[in-house]
Amino acid sequence: MNTEVAGWMRAAERIVILTGAGVSAESGVPTFRGSSGLWRQFRAEDLATPDAFARQPALVWEWYLWRRGLIAAAQPNAGHRAIARLEQRRRGVTLLSQNVDGLHRRAGSDPIELHGNLWHVRCANACGVRAHDLELAPPREQLRCACGAWLRPGVVWFGEPLDPETLDRATDAAAAADLLLVVGTSAVVYPVAALPDMARRRGVRVVEINIDATPLTRHVDAHLRGSAASILPELERQV
Ligand code: OAD
Repeated sequence: MNTEVAGWMRAAERIVILTGAGVSAESGVPTFRGSSGLWRQFRAEDLATPDAFARQPALVWEWYLWRRGLIAAAQPNAGHRAIARLEQRRRGVTLLSQNVDGLHRRAGSDPIELHGNLWHVRCANACGVRAHDLELAPPREQLRCACGAWLRPGVVWFGEPLDPETLDRATDAAAAADLLLVVGTSAVVYPVAALPDMARRRGVRVVEINIDATPLTRHVDAHLRGSAASILPELERQV
C-alpha cells in the first residue's frame, strides 16, 4: 500500500499535507484525545475557551506555560523532518497544521497554522498588539499588553472562529490538490475536519496516516496504519 501511495505522490503536481497532534506524539508532545491525551487530564472548558480565560487568565496561562516548557524540551521527529524534506525537494507541497507547537517550523517547514501558534501572544482586548516569542517563563507583568489588558496565547480556542484568511488559504489549497495526506489527526474538530471531505467531493485523492481508525477512515482512498514518524520518511524516500 505504501508503494501505491508513493506512486500517487510521484504523479501528483500538488500535494497538501494536513497534520494534527499525532505527528508530534513521537516528539513526546501529548495529543489531545486518546488514553493519554490532554483532554483526559484537563477540561477544555476550563483552559481552552475565551470564557475560561476571562474567568481565570492566570490559570490558563499557567497551563500554556507548562505546555511551552514541554515543547521547548522536545525536538522535531522523523515525521516532521520528512515533511520538510518533501517541501524542499518538490514544488507544489503545502503543509496545513492544526498543531500550535511550532515543531514543523523547527524542522524547516513553513506551515499554514490553522489553530495558531503557542509561541505567539496577542492582546486579549484586540488592541492590535502582537508580540512574538514571549519568554518561556515570563514574569507576571510581561503577560500584560502595552494597553494594560492581558496578553493571551496566540491560539484558537473552542468557540472561536479560525482566522478567515488562513482558513480560506487552507481550503483553496486542499480543493486544488491532487493528493491530500491527512496525518495524525482524530478528524473531529471543525472546521478543519471538513477539509478532507470537501477535497474528496472535488475529486482529490485522500490518504490517511494514523495509528488508529478515525471517522475519516472509511471515506479515504487509502489508510496507512502506523506512526507518522515511521511512515512519512518511508514515503518520502520513495517519492
Ligand atoms: P487529537 O489528539 O484529537 O488526535 C490525535 C490523532 O493522532 C489520533 O487520531 C491518534 O490516533 C493519532 N496519533 C497518535 N499518535 C500518532 C502517531 N505517532 N502517528 C500517527 N498518528 C498518531 O489531535 P488533533 O486531531 O490534532 O484544538 O486535534 C484537533 C484539535 O483538537 C487540536 O488542534 C486542538 C484540539 O482540541 C484546539 O485546541 C482548538
